[in-house]
Amino acid sequence: MSKMKFVRSLMKAAALANVPKHIDHFSKFSPSPLSMKQFLDFGSINACERTSFVFLRQELPVRLSNIMKEINLLPDRLLATPSVQLLQTWYIQSLMEILEFLDKNPDDQRVLETFVEVLEAVRNRHNEVVPTMAQGVIEYKDAFGQHDPVTDHNIQYFLDRFYTSRISIRMLINQHTLVFNGNSNPAHPNSIGCIDSMCDVTEVARDAYESARLLCEQYYLGAPELELRQMNANNVREPIQISYIPSHLYHMLFELFKNAMRATIEVHEGNRTLPPIKVMVALGGEDLSIRMSDQGGGVPFRKTERLFSYMYSTAPPPSIGDKHRAPLVRHTHTHTHTHTHLTAHINLRVCVQAGFGYGLPISRLYARYFQGDLQLYSMEGHGTDAIIHLKALSTDSVERLPVFNKTALRHYKLSLEADDWCVPSKEPLDLAVYRVAK
Ligand SMILES: Nc1ncnc2c1ncn2[C@@H]1O[C@H](COP(=O)(O)OP(=O)(O)OP(=O)(O)O)[C@@H](O)[C@H]1O
Ligand SMILES: [Mg+2]
Repeated sequence: MSKMKFVRSLMKAAALANVPKHIDHFSKFSPSPLSMKQFLDFGSINACERTSFVFLRQELPVRLSNIMKEINLLPDRLLATPSVQLLQTWYIQSLMEILEFLDKNPDDQRVLETFVEVLEAVRNRHNEVVPTMAQGVIEYKDAFGQHDPVTDHNIQYFLDRFYTSRISIRMLINQHTLVFNGNSNPAHPNSIGCIDSMCDVTEVARDAYESARLLCEQYYLGAPELELRQMNANNVREPIQISYIPSHLYHMLFELFKNAMRATIEVHEGNRTLPPIKVMVALGGEDLSIRMSDQGGGVPFRKTERLFSYMYSTAPPPSIGDKHRAPLVRHTHTHTHTHTHLTAHINLRVCVQAGFGYGLPISRLYARYFQGDLQLYSMEGHGTDAIIHLKALSTDSVERLPVFNKTALRHYKLSLEADDWCVPSKEPLDLAVYRVAK
């Protein structure tokens, strides 16, 4: 080893040794949630790369460190899986690369340019985080079984936060790199980065339907029709437009369509006609809501919460021969890339779930990310209504971010306590013991 190389590897080791200190330091700050309006301002006429740079070189380490603290609280046996270990090295590497910029001069154009490059590298490094984490959960489950309610709760709690954190970090990176990489997007004059200030919700719904239909027809040789209605209570004749991230909306709707189509087809197998999927889009003063109704037979009420569980649903990606599951769960992401709405989105591969059963839980995180929600109401024997609620106003759309604090810590220390509701007995009550002796 040359002397130069030796010195460099020494320095690297020293930097690595300091990582826990940096994480401790930056995790003491709370992440700063941005509103849709602030995101838009960053990219509009007052766009200032310097400001964005100065903000991000602090905010990204804060968001990374907050979630890295929580990774460390995972059950040891999950933390020790090769997948989670690998994932941790990505986070450490990215954190260190961004910290390099703390003492750089924001007025130096070259610094700003390297920063964009580093952010792009960070984004690529983290492309496979979702399937890698899912793989870790599978490894854990295979080794230790899945029916421990405490671990189940912890992992659900953690993954919701972890994936939300990831969505938010990618959002920050995408906005900065898209706005400041020099290419504006003339095809979308209303787009700022990946936000469309006039996102046409009905149009996105139609596009998501078309992609899901292609996929569905490919495997089932048919697909339910779409019946789309809308109600703009603010102005009946106007299209329904809000400030939103089309790729996020598209993602949620695409997932819901795939589920609705699969359920419809499986229930009506052998019938000559398929009932349509009905979508209603409504805009009020505060909410933008989308309801998707299918007649796919529904899910028992007892099981609906489970559909959002990572532990319950995490299954290894189906193999090619697996005819029943494979159709609408595999290859799904390939279509999202060719999509017109996704020109600005870069890597929704975030969620290449490859059929991990993460369609619903991740879609709900997207909805919640800007203070919305996604809920499922099913009538077993009939069908399912999936409802997305979003904020209609860009001032209400503010990032919903996890923060590492005492409350979060308590969640991981939760222990199994006795239930405060009676457990119904399986045996019929023997009333004989109550009979008064005569
Ligand atoms: N509209 C629906 N009607 C009936 N069952 C549904 C419906 N939507 C979801 N489900 C049930 O919920 C489960 C979980 O859905 P989810 O989208 O999260 O995962 P998946 O479709 O199995 O896999 P992935 O979406 O990752 O490809 C589905 O496997 C299905 O059993
Ligand atoms: Mg699905």
